[in-house]
Parts: sequence; C-alpha cells; structure tokens
Amino acid sequence: MQELTIRRPDDWHLHLRDGDMLEAVLPHTSRHFARAIIMPNLVPPVVDTALAASYRARIEKALPQDHRFIPLMTLYLTETTDAEDVVSGYESSAIAAVKLYPAGATTNSQSGVRDIETAYPVLERMAEAGVPLCVHGEVTDADIDIFDREAVFIDRVLEPLRRRIPSLKIVMEHITTSNGIDYVSSGADGIAGTITTHHLIINRNAILAGGIRPHYYCLPVAKRENHRLALRAAATSGNPRFFLGTDSAPHLDAAKETACGCAGVFSSINTLSCLAHVFEDEGALDRLEGFVSLNGPAFYGLPANDETIRLVRREEPIAVPASVETKSGPVTVFDPMFALHWDVAE
Ligand code: DOR
Ligand code: ZN
Repeated sequence: MQELTIRRPDDWHLHLRDGDMLEAVLPHTSRHFARAIIMPNLVPPVVDTALAASYRARIEKALPQDHRFIPLMTLYLTETTDAEDVVSGYESSAIAAVKLYPAGATTNSQSGVRDIETAYPVLERMAEAGVPLCVHGEVTDADIDIFDREAVFIDRVLEPLRRRIPSLKIVMEHITTSNGIDYVSSGADGIAGTITTHHLIINRNAILAGGIRPHYYCLPVAKRENHRLALRAAATSGNPRFFLGTDSAPHLDAAKETACGCAGVFSSINTLSCLAHVFEDEGALDRLEGFVSLNGPAFYGLPANDETIRLVRREEPIAVPASVETKSGPVTVFDPMFALHWDVAE
C-alpha cells in the first residue's frame, strides 16, 4: 500500500509545557492532530479548573492561525483536590480527565499523591460523574527496581483501586510492559491503555548499550525486547482498549545531556511517520486508524474526527529535522534509528 487515508488522529497523552517551549512544540502536534489530552505537570502544576482554563487560553494563543486543534485539559490530582471542582469542570467541558502522578514518579510530580487512600473520596465522586482517571502507573519506592515499577504498581495500587471503585474509568498511560498489556486486556470494562510511539520502537538497549543515550531516556523507562514485542502486538491487534498517547515530552537538550538528565522523548513531529512504519512492518496498516483515530475517542465518549489525513509512502526517505529550535535552545527529535518513508500529505 502506498497511500492511506484515515480519520484525523488524536494524541491521548501529550506534554506541551508553557512559554517559549509551548510556542515551539505545539505546531508539530496541531498540524496533524485534532485533539490531545494535555498533561498538567507544569511548574506549578495545573491543580484546579481555573488554572486549567488559563493554561488552555495560553495554548489557544500559541496555536498557528490556520490550525484547528482542541486541547483536552486535565487536572493534576493532589491529596487536597476538590471533588466538586473536578466534577463541575468535567461537566462544563473545562477538563476531560484527571491525572494521577504518584509523588516523585517523574518530572514535576512532587505534588502528586503519596497515599492513594487519601484520594479515594475524590475518585469515588469521579466514578459517579464519569470523569476518567489517567494514571502514571509506576510505584516510587526506592527499594523497587526501576524496571519493575510498573508491574508492582499494578499489584499494589491499580488492582486495589479497581476493586474498590470498579466503575471508575481508568487509562493506564504509556504502558511499557507485557504485565500492563495483560492487565488492561483481561480486566473488566472501564480500563484502557495508551502506548507511546517510542516504546513501540526502542527497548532498553537504545538507552544503555554502546554508550548512554539520554534522548531515549523517558519514564516509564523502556524495558526488555519481549515487552516491546508485547506492546507492538497490542497496538496492532485492533483491540479497542489500546490507543495512541505519544507522551511527547520535550526538554531542552541542555537539560537532557547532563549528569542528571530529565526524562522525556520529543516525538510529536515524526510520530505518524514512525507509527505507519511500525504498522506496515507488522502487516497491520489497516489497523492504524483504530489505534490513532478511533479507539481513543470511543473510550473517552467523544466522536471520532470527521476530517481525514492522507499518509503517503515516498520512494525516498523523508527529511525529519534532528532538532527543533526554541528561544532557549534546541530540543532533539526522537530518532527511530531507521529511515522513514511515510509522509503526512499536507
Ligand atoms: O518521560 C517522561 N517525561 N515521563 C513522564 O512521565 C513525564 C514526562 C515529562 O513531563 O517530562
Ligand atoms: Zn507523560
């Protein structure tokens, strides 16, 4: 197949940041994506609907005039989140979901939840009102190996939460293990999972073998090859519980190429080309639309986009910039380590 027309995709997990960075990265998403779930881990975090509304206004202001893009805002769950603010924000469409960051799990997660029990009253209210919970599924205990943190989170936090509030809609975000895939596939209704572009392409060797490569470091960290294969199988299976959340998470190169570098892969610019490549490799191009454009809205209870985009397979590799400039310095673009031929026709 040399051409593929699909409904306009959405990104169900995206970091846009703020200020100069927002201005530099937003057009790379809004060029091709209709909507995105916007992560609230700013400094300070987006903890209530008033902050979400002002962040949304800053995003809309940074949007190129000829782009149509809807930011789906989220609130950062803390131990003092006001349930009524969440529910009224959801009912007025000011927010689309709430995000659970276990405290200390990742970039700007210090204000996250230390003890999930403290959040149960808010989560119960969210379940009644149908507000989805997006989950960063890693425990943060220093004694748990970083490669095991997702699997341990399922046993210690996610499964008890599901038992306690079975009607809460949960998105297990950026799944990186076969444990996560199995958990989401086999659970009762009401759970879904997002998968990033980069976790379909790299395993942990990309970060660590033959030299340390900070631009492949993100959280949850990429795992062994068997896990990557499980992610590819799930993403390309057609199972509607899995959909794209790029977790495109830009950091300045200076913040990544340092003794203690930030976690995050910036992939919004070439994500669709990478995904078409992966789905073609797996003989599943006919399932790409489900993964990027249909399964996500169905889970969130939103209509799929009416517009379409056209992907074209070029004879020659397409050009992708190695980095994107911001006013504060460059941000390296995710390098899939293979040539890309699928292009999004404008
Ligand atoms: O790699 C990551 N980067 N994982 C996260 O969970 C947060 C993100 C960020 O904000 O940089
Ligand atoms: Zn993220």
